[in-house]
Amino acid sequence: MTVSTHDKTLQVDRSNRAKLTDKEFSFICQFVYQSTGIVLNDNKREMVYRRLTRIIRERKLASFSQYCQMLKEHPEREKDFFINAITTNLTSFFREQHHFDYLKTTEFPTLLQRKKKLANGKKRLRIWSSASSTGEEPYSIAMTLLEVLKAELSEWDAKILATDIDSNVLNKGKNGIYDNNKIEAIPQSYLDKYFYQGKGENRDNVKVAKELQQLITFKRLNLLHDWPMKGPFDVIFCRNVIIYFDKETQQDLFARYYELLAPGGLFILGHSENLGSFQKYFENSGRTMFRKPY
Ligand SMILES: C[S@@+](CC[C@H](N)C(=O)[O-])C[C@H]1O[C@@H](n2cnc3c(N)ncnc32)[C@H](O)[C@@H]1O
Repeated sequence: MTVSTHDKTLQVDRSNRAKLTDKEFSFICQFVYQSTGIVLNDNKREMVYRRLTRIIRERKLASFSQYCQMLKEHPEREKDFFINAITTNLTSFFREQHHFDYLKTTEFPTLLQRKKKLANGKKRLRIWSSASSTGEEPYSIAMTLLEVLKAELSEWDAKILATDIDSNVLNKGKNGIYDNNKIEAIPQSYLDKYFYQGKGENRDNVKVAKELQQLITFKRLNLLHDWPMKGPFDVIFCRNVIIYFDKETQQDLFARYYELLAPGGLFILGHSENLGSFQKYFENSGRTMFRKPY
């Protein structure tokens, strides 16, 4: 039975929860798929419920049905709030450490040597973190790169592009302010060089150094849409995002990533992701790392 306490509260059932009917859930899944490529199934129902309840409350709506109606009537106005609520942004500094170890010991030193031989003048280096979430991934790349470049930075035209569909996480990344408990995986020597500890009312936070921020450009990009960048990229991070897409979307994206990679460029997936039938176009370069042949 559904009871309504007063007109500005959600309709509640006996367990004091708003109702999300099969029809509404199916509409929401379709809306998510069309706007982000993310495939939701029934085991994500509880998650969807929790995340959208917040928006429904903020909008002072009485039910999921009213919210679905709002999405139908004003998709453009509502879409960004909806996407920001629905995306899963889990990330951390030096997540999947082996990727950063490989960059530091093998990929970057080799790449820099090769480019030094080729270029006269400033040497170009481009890296793309294509689902950057709150910024921990691009900042980890930046620290790793600076450790290898050391004093030579001024000789390089080095840039890291960090993109995500979610505008909230991009703002967090741009600000570069993190809770103290997020920096546990960062080696002390990096913390000393690349982070400032907050003081007074900011004592629970750290701020990343300008030196790192200057290397990174944060931009909003939906991977399903056109990509305005020309590339080529020397390294592309595509970690823990394609897992949310169906096989068709994944294969389509792999073809586009491949186009933007420089010959010899490195493509990096997350721990539970694979290239499927696109694997034949790449050479294996270690755990979930793939190289576009020269
Ligand atoms: C789990 S996080 C992964 C973060 C980071 N790459 C890592 O591995 O730690 C997934 C990110 O993908 C983003 N995302 C989901 N769908 C997207 C899309 N269609 N275009 C761009 N980013 C998307 C989400 O907003 C989220 O921040």
